[in-house]
Amino acid sequence: MKREFLITGDGSLTIHLPEWNEQYHSKHGAIAEAQHVFIESGLYHFISDENPKTISILEIGFGTGLNAFLTLLFCSDRNMYITYTGVEAYPVMADEIEKLNYAEISMASATLFKELHSTPWEVPAEIANSFQLTKQKKYFSEINNEQEFDIIYFDAFGPRVQPELWTEEIFRKMFHALKPGGILVTYSAKGSVRRAMQATGFTVERLPGPPGKREMLRGSKIAGVITGLLSWNCTPKGNTS
Ligand SMILES: C[S@@+](CC[C@H](N)C(=O)[O-])C[C@H]1O[C@@H](n2cnc3c(N)ncnc32)[C@H](O)[C@@H]1O
Repeated sequence: MKREFLITGDGSLTIHLPEWNEQYHSKHGAIAEAQHVFIESGLYHFISDENPKTISILEIGFGTGLNAFLTLLFCSDRNMYITYTGVEAYPVMADEIEKLNYAEISMASATLFKELHSTPWEVPAEIANSFQLTKQKKYFSEINNEQEFDIIYFDAFGPRVQPELWTEEIFRKMFHALKPGGILVTYSAKGSVRRAMQATGFTVERLPGPPGKREMLRGSKIAGVITGLLSWNCTPKGNTS
């Protein structure tokens, strides 16, 4: 599939797929979107509640590594340790990574950004004192983790082009992968996405969206709520067995 670079609203680049008329990030600002949806509404929200010292994050669609990079920058001057798992079936090519201007725009280390990409797949890598990255090259449908993550950054291509990734089947996997009390954040606010999340057990909030988008979604796996089970005795009347 053909790939082009696009300058987004905040000056940061993204990759555009003309055949799908889809890009890796919002045209209104790649960094602005990632910062708003994943860092502020996800990571910052999560630590504000409980101030945990270690946090595990799963990213659905590692792509350019922008979300991982912003997460690494976020935790670098805070007293916390993040284990970050990025799942990606079609890694971005090395020559494309070279062109991305995320370090320059964030006024951060380009070496650190490149390291996110140069570390081997499938093995945990200590990118910084406070940040461990594991990149997994596989399909989202192959995710079968159980209660391992505090936060999921759900950053697949949109439901218009990949509807199969926004289904109850995938969100059930996400729900299982989260620890009780965990959250999933996504830039999509589509009604069908919200309903699929709710059907799998998430308590869903509609939040103000990033530049150019009215809303986004945050789903919580509320501790103690077990979906699909009645916790009281539901033996039918008259059944004495
Ligand atoms: C919206 S982009 C991710 C953007 C990324 N978070 C970033 O910051 O650059 C969606 C990503 O999902 C990947 N992808 C698409 N379908 C997939 C699938 N079925 N399994 C795993 N990865 C997939 C794409 O290759 C792409 O990198």
